[in-house]
Amino acid sequence: MQPFEYRDGALFAEGVALSAIAERFDTPTYVYSRAHIEAQYRAYADALTGMPHLVCFAVKANSNLGVLNVLARLGAGFDIVSRGELERVLAAGGEPGKIVFSGVGKSRDDMRRALQVGVHCFNVESVDELERLQQVAAELGVKAPVSLRVNPDVDAGTHPYISTGLKENKFGIDIEQAEAVYARAAELSHLHVIGVDCHIGSQLTTLAPFLDALERLLVLVDRLAERGIHIKHLDLGGGLGVQYRDEQPPLAGDYIAKVRERIAGRDLALVFEPGRSIVANAGVLLTRVEYLKHTEHKDFAIVDAAMNDLIRPALYQAWMDIVPVQPRDATTRPYDIVGPICETGDFLGKDRELALAEGDLLAVRSAGAYGFVMSSNYNTRGRAAEVLVDGEQVYEVRRRETLAELYAGESLLPD
Ligand code: LLP
Repeated sequence: MQPFEYRDGALFAEGVALSAIAERFDTPTYVYSRAHIEAQYRAYADALTGMPHLVCFAVKANSNLGVLNVLARLGAGFDIVSRGELERVLAAGGEPGKIVFSGVGKSRDDMRRALQVGVHCFNVESVDELERLQQVAAELGVKAPVSLRVNPDVDAGTHPYISTGLKENKFGIDIEQAEAVYARAAELSHLHVIGVDCHIGSQLTTLAPFLDALERLLVLVDRLAERGIHIKHLDLGGGLGVQYRDEQPPLAGDYIAKVRERIAGRDLALVFEPGRSIVANAGVLLTRVEYLKHTEHKDFAIVDAAMNDLIRPALYQAWMDIVPVQPRDATTRPYDIVGPICETGDFLGKDRELALAEGDLLAVRSAGAYGFVMSSNYNTRGRAAEVLVDGEQVYEVRRRETLAELYAGESLLPD
């Protein structure tokens, strides 16, 4: 099922016309499809049936409570990287025992709260973090379940900003040193070693790097077993790519089938931390054309969404499809779709062949992952609304920010 499709010349989100959503909630607005989120989650969960597993949605990709709640109702786990994400998951009805806590900079407070609620596992990224976790767990009189995030030194072949598994990256523990660090972890009284974790990058469009990383992790698991350290789960992170344009990323089911084949006969549970592949194509950013500006060199469509709403094109030169909500039967021009922000980098797309008029609605596709979550208030712009479509129903899962809210926490100097 395609979540966003044209019907009688108008773009729909499931059973609702996007023009009706713009009418009711104004623009810019993020629109998500519940059915698509559910289908993408199930592709992982179904491929893992019959073996112990956790599918931990990477909250950083889309942390809206409504979205998290849809996943929590399906029994999803969650991959978090901050105290804030932990509180969101709990508020959305997620089970603490299905949370894995990743990230290179966990504070003592983060650790304390996560131990109190009883997360499934800490993905530890350095020796110092290990020692700190031991201390905090000892203070609370509990044992912290840990995996080490190892850096398998494989090239994910993706954009340098989102590639994380090479030696030069800040993430994880060098696989050469991992054995020694595991030995240290096993000595610490308030830690309980349960897993091995890795995450090599995002938007991967082939399986080879994942399978290379898996081989290296399995060698480590065997070496650890020889030392009497028994690993219960492998966490392979997230990273599966999606189609933005003409990429042909592997399906979750095919990926998991390969992994299952490779670990057959071993007593290992599997954990995945998918973000983008669950939500990217479940969302669009709906925006309206404010002005058309034709210069000698270029045609610009100035829209009401900007880089503060969706920073991926500006930050990663990401190409995201931009389509008309009600296509016109008229001559097209190559438009640069730009926002109102005072920066040349403020564009959503360049050279897009479109037939446009002032007031037209556009949908930026594949915006469900790393869209709203990376938005800011730059140029004192309130953040967009978010709505979740479920069949014929539309739920406002985050209302538009008001201008008063933007500086409510600020103050003037005393007289
Ligand atoms: N696990 C860990 C430890 C991660 O760091 C990430 C993403 C994930 C899981 C989820 O990866 P995914 O399945 O979404 O690829 N803002 C960038 C993407 C940054 C990804 C950071 N880590 C973008 O817009 O492309």
